[in-house]
Amino acid sequence: METGICRSNAETVDLSLFKDLLLRSCGHAFENEREQTLSAALCRRMAARDIDCLNSYHALLMRDEPELRSLTELLTVNETYFFREPGHLNLMVDKLLPELMHSRNHNPVRILSAGCSTGEEPYSIAIMLRERFGSDAEKLFRIVGVDIDSTAINTARKSVYGRNSFRGINQALLQRYFEPAGAGEYSVREELKRQVLFDVVNLLGQPYPETMLIPDIILYRNVSIYFPGEVQREIFARLAAILVDGGCMMVGASETFHHDIGLLSLVQRDTLFFYKKTPGIVFEERRASSRAVLAPESTRKYVSQRVFPRESKTEVNNSPLQSSLQGRVDDKVINIKENFDKALALAQNKELDKSLEILEDVITQDKRFTKAHTLKGSLLLTMGRFEDARGVCETIMEQDSLSLAAHLLLGMIARQNGDEEGALKRFREAIYLDASCWLAHFYSAELMFARKETKRARSSYEAALRVLEKGSMNTLGHTFFPLSFNAEQFAVICRHKLSILTSTRIKG
Ligand SMILES: C[S@@+](CC[C@H](N)C(=O)[O-])C[C@H]1O[C@@H](n2cnc3c(N)ncnc32)[C@H](O)[C@@H]1O
Repeated sequence: METGICRSNAETVDLSLFKDLLLRSCGHAFENEREQTLSAALCRRMAARDIDCLNSYHALLMRDEPELRSLTELLTVNETYFFREPGHLNLMVDKLLPELMHSRNHNPVRILSAGCSTGEEPYSIAIMLRERFGSDAEKLFRIVGVDIDSTAINTARKSVYGRNSFRGINQALLQRYFEPAGAGEYSVREELKRQVLFDVVNLLGQPYPETMLIPDIILYRNVSIYFPGEVQREIFARLAAILVDGGCMMVGASETFHHDIGLLSLVQRDTLFFYKKTPGIVFEERRASSRAVLAPESTRKYVSQRVFPRESKTEVNNSPLQSSLQGRVDDKVINIKENFDKALALAQNKELDKSLEILEDVITQDKRFTKAHTLKGSLLLTMGRFEDARGVCETIMEQDSLSLAAHLLLGMIARQNGDEEGALKRFREAIYLDASCWLAHFYSAELMFARKETKRARSSYEAALRVLEKGSMNTLGHTFFPLSFNAEQFAVICRHKLSILTSTRIKG
């Protein structure tokens, strides 16, 4: 620990004290490649304070809050730009806000950008509101942006931006809402500035200032990716608590599903997901109302009984009659599971008719066994019975409207029927549900490749390949699809298509 970190290799220095401190203070974890970022930041701050002993610097951090803030600010990732991920912004302005305005009874609708960085997100909202509601927007809405990083908040307050921030904006909006500020920079016009309030807030810190309270909409996008699971849950819970009843919270596309923890209802509109605080629904109901559990009931019973065979207290105390009834339930569950495994093995062995026959039996015994429906749908698809397969998907989605398998199957059915747009929409939804759904990436890539949309095809093949190179068919959860290729063959196809896209210049 006494070794000067700047002179030594980060791996040889124990940074655990700093990691603990930062995890507790701002929620950030610094494992693996992020460790380098931590040691570089420590170097800079220690040099600035003329300290070359890690222990002394740690002691300083423990007593000097401004120093801890300075270190934290070197560690935050402030990447942002105007109109980033516009899907959610459009949904909010076009649909959610007009609905919420009714219930606000002429009080301004409150919008909170939690983790707003240098302010591009809240200003994008202000611009969109002006575009839609004209100068009334100033009275109708109140926008607050908060961030832990005071340097970022100072930039937001100054609101002068360079080229990087304007990646996603069109020229007309640039001219309407900004004025040149020299050296290729632009400053936000006064009327927009008036509408947005900024504050330095640690989302993990206590307590939240009044300016943040009872928002109607929270945008909490691209912030939680830097937090470990327990911090993600804690901050989400704190934000959910301040959200008004009936209010909505939007997270980044890749952050959607790790927040489906039962606190808010996960809602889908068109192809987009967001969270809603449904008044009067308590934890477990909310979870059930937003998303049916992935493992079918029968499998979960089976697993728990196998893990705790005959030791549970309830069973010891059971009467002989109860025990015998319980035994029959156990046998039935095990029987269903065994039959399902048989059907799966037959499907993998290409004995599709036999597999289907057993599956019908399994489904008759347990109508809510989603995996059995999924396998059935996939068999029907392989057999070219598209309408039957679609019917199966509808059954699955009645039980679990966010079923990844059903979205994927519907995409494949649409593709087979020549409905390219329908297929792409379903694959997009599947990717939303699970960004590592490589089949959805792969089939999207194939469709775009056929349409000669080079750029999009390339990024989809790359996404599929990234997942394929990391995992296996089983770990990726697509074992139910009796595919005619294995994962390695899919990877080969991806590489091949990528090499074609690189060597020939198909116009995108
Ligand atoms: C990548 S930016 C996202 C900006 C914007 N929401 C967007 O989507 O473009 C993440 C921001 O989260 C902020 N942040 C990280 N940890 C935070 C915390 N504990 N409290 C408040 N803000 C935090 C960082 O300072 C950074 O500015």
